[in-house]
Amino acid sequence: MLPPIIAPQFNSDRGSILGYADGLLRTRRAFLAACAALPCARAAGPIGAGEYAERRRALAEAIGRGVIALLGSTESEGRSGFTGFRQQSSFFYLTGHQEPGAALLIAPAHGGRPYREILFLADSAGRSRKWSGPSLQPENAGHLGFAEVLTESRFRPTLSTLLRDRGRLAGLAEARPADDALARSRHERLVEAAGSEPTRDIRVPLAALRSVKSPAEIALIQASIEATEVGFRDAWAKVADGATERDVAAGLIGGAFRAGCERLAFAPIVAAGAHATILHYQRNSGRLQSGQMLLIDAGGERARYAADITRSIPVSGQFSERQRQLYEAVLEAHEQALNAVKPGSVLSGPARSSIESIAQRVLRRRAPRGADPYLPHAIGHHVGLDVHDPTPPGRAFEPGMVLAIEPGLYLPEEGIGIRIEDMVEVTVDGCRVMSTGLPRSADALEAALAGAGPD
Ligand code: GLY
Ligand code: MN
Ligand code: MN
Repeated sequence: MLPPIIAPQFNSDRGSILGYADGLLRTRRAFLAACAALPCARAAGPIGAGEYAERRRALAEAIGRGVIALLGSTESEGRSGFTGFRQQSSFFYLTGHQEPGAALLIAPAHGGRPYREILFLADSAGRSRKWSGPSLQPENAGHLGFAEVLTESRFRPTLSTLLRDRGRLAGLAEARPADDALARSRHERLVEAAGSEPTRDIRVPLAALRSVKSPAEIALIQASIEATEVGFRDAWAKVADGATERDVAAGLIGGAFRAGCERLAFAPIVAAGAHATILHYQRNSGRLQSGQMLLIDAGGERARYAADITRSIPVSGQFSERQRQLYEAVLEAHEQALNAVKPGSVLSGPARSSIESIAQRVLRRRAPRGADPYLPHAIGHHVGLDVHDPTPPGRAFEPGMVLAIEPGLYLPEEGIGIRIEDMVEVTVDGCRVMSTGLPRSADALEAALAGAGPD
């Protein structure tokens, strides 16, 4: 869940669970076969070069004049000992290029000068080749769809020439808050390369573009969700009195990876009993006890796109009366929130019609004393290349936006935390729930848990 910050959330590169399609849906084998048929994201990945080119053109149009400069992650910036290199998300969004040390210049058509876009690729020589293998070189980069591809050593002189020609550097994308050291280092390198040119932060136009997903992106997010759902089912199969939260996390990770995720979008939260009242509990070191509730909040990443789902279940497989009462309060908040997602509505804010206000009203009416403050975290967020995808400030929902909606109730004195999180695509007249592979009602959860178990 997001922290309770109303300010616009720009992406954090690192982030923010249960069954087999309930008998009605595909069998697991068929599902896995379908996942295997999806190509992995490498280079231009499953999204065509033409779509990346359209995104660059759209950004150029939004910016209008000047030079847009973006740096991809270097090997050290994008490195994760556990997940391997991960390209900076906006750079990936505009290029489809997954390798370290790349850079991008876009010069919008202006004042009679033509549109230009140039991709710079890391030089394959030296230390990085030894450690990471050869990198893509300009002569082999035709599939990325750039008219001009140069090596990274040409970045500074080309930027200088373009700045002389066009003036005004437009982009310091992803110049994030001062506590993000990696963004700061990217920012500093760009400022240095730009010399004395004035700069302009382009996070807002980038967020506006990234927030409306194409059909190809929605298909990839859907694949990520479905692989995550496999992980949830495998996690549920591990739930038993005396099992550890880590046993359950192992089921989740194994299932999601087998179903095609290349990494998790964030460290999974597997929280039994009172642990679930700690919003970002990630130690996953406790032991499950019959009679407790168990909250799992997790998401895989498939072809670079994230999922983010939460389910809260009784460890015993059966809700107690009290657990059911609390669960159904959250469920009603969730359902009313989902029903209100449509073009023109907004996620948060004081308006009675905001999704947050709608969920708050239900929780205030139904929650017991002790659950105050209702909704100690945000009601939801955009999801895409990042689990907390950038959000254009104040922008109302539009078709193609993808959101996670996640009301919760937290009662530390009772040792119960309940959250229900699903992902939706905003459609022309409402929304489509994307994470339909996991049951949500208390009865359906009990039925799924009764059938949960190894193949
Ligand atoms: N687990 C991160 C989130 O739900 O936003
Ligand atoms: Mn979330
Ligand atoms: Mn979540």
